[in-house]
Amino acid sequence: MVSPTNFLFLCFSAIILVGGITSVQALVHRFEVRRTFHTRLCTNKSMLTVNGQFPGPTIYARRGELVTVDIINLSEQNITIHWHGVRMPRYPWADGTNLVTMCPITPGNKFRQRMILSDEEGTLFWHAHSDWSRATVYGAIIILPPTPESYPFPKPHAQIPILLGLWWNAEIEEVYENFLAEGRDPAPVDAFLMNGQPGDLYPCSTQDTFRLKVEPRKTYLIRMVSGLMHFMVFFKIAGHNVTVVGMDGAYTKPLNTNHIAISPGQTIDFLLETNQAPSHYYMAYKIYTRSSDYVPSTAILEYAGNYTPPPSPVFPSFQEGWPSTSMHFETKLRSLADAKHPIAVPTNITEKLFFTLSINLWPCDADSCLESDRFLASINNVSMMIPETSILEAYYKGVRGVFTANFPDRPDRIFNFTYVTLQQSESHPRFATAVYMLDYNAEVEIVFQGTILGKGMDHPMHLHGYSVYLLGTGLGNFNEARDRPSLNLVDPPYMDTVNVPRFGWTVVRFKANNPGVWYMHCHYDRHQTWGMRMVFIVKDGDRPEEKMLPPPQDMPRCDMPGGEVTLGPRELAQLVS
Ligand code: C2O
Ligand code: CU
Repeated sequence: MVSPTNFLFLCFSAIILVGGITSVQALVHRFEVRRTFHTRLCTNKSMLTVNGQFPGPTIYARRGELVTVDIINLSEQNITIHWHGVRMPRYPWADGTNLVTMCPITPGNKFRQRMILSDEEGTLFWHAHSDWSRATVYGAIIILPPTPESYPFPKPHAQIPILLGLWWNAEIEEVYENFLAEGRDPAPVDAFLMNGQPGDLYPCSTQDTFRLKVEPRKTYLIRMVSGLMHFMVFFKIAGHNVTVVGMDGAYTKPLNTNHIAISPGQTIDFLLETNQAPSHYYMAYKIYTRSSDYVPSTAILEYAGNYTPPPSPVFPSFQEGWPSTSMHFETKLRSLADAKHPIAVPTNITEKLFFTLSINLWPCDADSCLESDRFLASINNVSMMIPETSILEAYYKGVRGVFTANFPDRPDRIFNFTYVTLQQSESHPRFATAVYMLDYNAEVEIVFQGTILGKGMDHPMHLHGYSVYLLGTGLGNFNEARDRPSLNLVDPPYMDTVNVPRFGWTVVRFKANNPGVWYMHCHYDRHQTWGMRMVFIVKDGDRPEEKMLPPPQDMPRCDMPGGEVTLGPRELAQLVS
């Protein structure tokens, strides 16, 4: 945690260093959000981008630094930018979650937004956090060890960000609005992207395919970010194993594997050794389904040297009988948990939470509805409504009527969660803007329980303001007697986005030592929009360094004139009421 003195020092040093000393923290980055035109699959469309780049610029920093970014909204839409996986000690003001921690930056306005790094090290990312604009507004955050420290693995020859993303030929605003109006799944994507490119299996894409040129017998550090809106995917490099060394901005014990499984919101650092015969190899990823018509996204690994490349690069095999869930991958990850990278798994649990994750139905009567009911989603059968003003501001100023402090610690109805015993129609959710209050330093355990409602899905659950220890995950209903003894309290991985497998459960723990207002949600955007989201408020502690810091002067206000209010969850809730 950053102590108040430390924090002031960081601000001060950021200011004095602006005078020209080369230091990452001396920079004030400038993010101009505006509408620009981009072409993929021979289709040109307009979309929101940062500085005209797609994916957006990479932010480089060192562990513990304060990074300052001026966000300038030159678009016609409201925007917020979230530092995904950055814990922002005592400073939720710059977490960037629309109407949870801030009012949006309206068109023509700006916000000088701090990113307060503490002990994160590795790869994280930033993305827009208002409607679905993050489809095109995202970029990597690369956090290097502070000098003179180094990595807990041999220094790589080079580091390469690989950002996964999606492409719709239609504008994302249109995809989003149709999705709300129709009440079912969003339009299928037109392409999967690596570093903004679909790869040469897609039409009109050969020219711009991402090519990674490597030297033989070297080690490369790949920093992979999933900026996907939906879908867990499998990534492989033909002919090469890789070694995972970090996840979500924390190092892991080395894990040698022939594939990477990654969900939206996750970041994975892995080492690639160029130890194969010099040639061209495909790097590819695809979603897991047996009968998928989705074309994999490809990039090409090109060895330097004198050889005749094959007419077509070798393609990796995806026929491995992987289970249809993420489980097999995450259960193998381990924290370093050594003297230099200690972990602190809470063991005196004061808050035992049991959260069911469901897809629900609700009648859909509008002419635009595709079926007679629409999909919604919930945690403990509560489908969260987003208020019209920032929950953080309401909490800080003591404004009543914005939220209630009664989010349930368990579902109102216990049923056999992973077998059909309940009609889908019996599963209407409740609507509320309810938060769960946590005392400072509470030791929290959450058992996430997937349910069969809506046929069941994987859910990558993401918590702002914290990383959590992933103690275990499994199939079926979580069973205390059977499953608790298998939880890993020794070296669990420390993650900000954990998968809850389809028809299964996942257990996490964290210590509530970061006061503030912190959003938690499924990182599949359709589930989030349907209501699979909630808020924790972590109260201040007694000591000064245990309290939230005050807001910055230029905090955007909800009554600022500017953009149109886009169709949001409140409108959705009105549609369904
Ligand atoms: Cu990646 Cu709520 O965020
Ligand atoms: Cu989900």
